[in-house]
Amino acid sequence: MDKDSSSPTESSLSCVRCGKPAFLQCPKCVELKLPRQGAAFCTQDCFKASWSFHKSVHVGSNLGHVSGSVPSNQSSDGWLYCLRKGQTRTSQLPHFDWTGTLRPYPISKQRLVPEGIEKPDWADSGIPKIEPSSDLQNIVEIKTPEQIERMRETCRIAREVLDAAARIIRPGITTDEIDDVVHQATIAAGGYPSPLNYHFFPKSCCTSVNEVICHGIPDARRLEDGDIVNVDVTVYYKGVHGDLNETFFVGEVDEASRHLVRCTYECLEKAISIVKPGIRFRDVGEVINRHATMSGLAVVKSYCGHGIGELFHCAPNIPHYGRNKAVGIMKAGQTFTIEPMINAGIWRDRLWPDGWTAVTADGKRSAQFEHTLLVTETGVEVLTARLPQSPNVFPWLNS
Ligand code: MF3
Ligand code: CO
Ligand code: CO
Repeated sequence: MDKDSSSPTESSLSCVRCGKPAFLQCPKCVELKLPRQGAAFCTQDCFKASWSFHKSVHVGSNLGHVSGSVPSNQSSDGWLYCLRKGQTRTSQLPHFDWTGTLRPYPISKQRLVPEGIEKPDWADSGIPKIEPSSDLQNIVEIKTPEQIERMRETCRIAREVLDAAARIIRPGITTDEIDDVVHQATIAAGGYPSPLNYHFFPKSCCTSVNEVICHGIPDARRLEDGDIVNVDVTVYYKGVHGDLNETFFVGEVDEASRHLVRCTYECLEKAISIVKPGIRFRDVGEVINRHATMSGLAVVKSYCGHGIGELFHCAPNIPHYGRNKAVGIMKAGQTFTIEPMINAGIWRDRLWPDGWTAVTADGKRSAQFEHTLLVTETGVEVLTARLPQSPNVFPWLNS
């Protein structure tokens, strides 16, 4: 039932504020040719009540105002909601028992990667062919020095790409603009943004706002003062992937969110500190669980750290929660991610109808940090470590 809303008696649009059928369009949005769903209201009352937050969608639209890098495809034409993996797009906000206040916004057209950049096997088809059936799903590869050197290079690029994204984060920018920066910075370095078309994921990075745990799809929503946003970047370069993410503050953020984000950062630091040959993969979750629980927070169970290299996701599987049953012990030469997702409320997650966006079941906020790691003879090398020039966005890193 994907009806056009131009009929006066039936509306396919739902009110931005209350979700009821909507027949009014914000005149400013119409003038700026912004997506119709984001501009729809049922009554003047809902329109007026929404004004204080709704007006932010007008700011800077069509003006090419962000860091000189506004994508060429930002016209409202072609902006549609993402619905299920790769299959459909819709002009109508899907129905869902939303767990919090965040909603999906329309997404822009797929970004292009120039000829000459080496692409993973899903880039054209949306389906990874080698990854699912590889032996590396069962055995944890010991990388050669040559592979390790390529991992270093790729992870360094991924770090610089994430840092470029971090520098533009402020109230008023859209997550699609973050995606554009990630996309352009990645291809400028000669890399491919691994998420793009991976199992039909439509964008070049994941942007996870507030109650989104992970795999948020960059869209037309403008970041608001007080939001938190995780940006997860993966780069494919010289045949290997490098994967990292950080959660950023948008403007002034409340104390509970600052506690959540800092504690999540510490969970990853503490987990990394135990990595060395002989340590059990299952112990990673014990360390994270202890710190999160002691801080009054909960650990997500559905998404785990993973092996990485020539494959985006492979063995080992590394849960972040306590009493997990991960198999195996760490050996020098292995590369994998640790990427704890920590919730302010309950640990349980739910999936949006887009098939990607994982949100907290109670609508409370979630934070995440991720590094790609190499086990060395004596401990660990953080391949995606912060650089001296990385933007200074975490207050606790200022001694
Ligand atoms: N970067 C994510 C991870 O840490 C995976 C994103 S896959 C995508 O494993 F398709 F959602 F982009
Ligand atoms: Co990862
Ligand atoms: Co990642």
